[in-house]
Amino acid sequence: MHIPDLIDWGPRFELGIDSIDQQHRALVNMINALQTAMAFGDSRPLLDQLFTDLAAYANSHFAFEHELLESVQFPGLREHLTKHERYKNRLQSLKEEFLGKKSFLISTKVKEFLREWFYQHVLVEDAQFASYLTNKINS
Ligand SMILES: [Fe+2]
Ligand SMILES: [Fe+2]
Repeated sequence: MHIPDLIDWGPRFELGIDSIDQQHRALVNMINALQTAMAFGDSRPLLDQLFTDLAAYANSHFAFEHELLESVQFPGLREHLTKHERYKNRLQSLKEEFLGKKSFLISTKVKEFLREWFYQHVLVEDAQFASYLTNKINS
């Protein structure tokens, strides 16, 4: 799949649950901010703040999804939560790489990781619970 540098948020990314869509949009804004910082110079100062923001974001967004999925008894709940845990672990190891200054390519790695997460998790895996939820509401 071709993944563009900047993610141009639009209705095609909406899963139909307003609060979730708003939260996903916030993630896209963070990814775009990183991409812009990289295009215009040193992204390291931004990255420092970004790790903090992404951790806070993951905690609140994942907790929100967890509660929502539990309330509708989504059958794929456990599996979904495992994906969220993996994301948090990967983010943590990228942060350690960044703090250890072990990688020159850290900004690129973080950006690629986030974009892949958006396209794979948000648009595929989150979309699965969204359609489950929409069907449940409409039936
Ligand atoms: Fe999500
Ligand atoms: Fe999710």
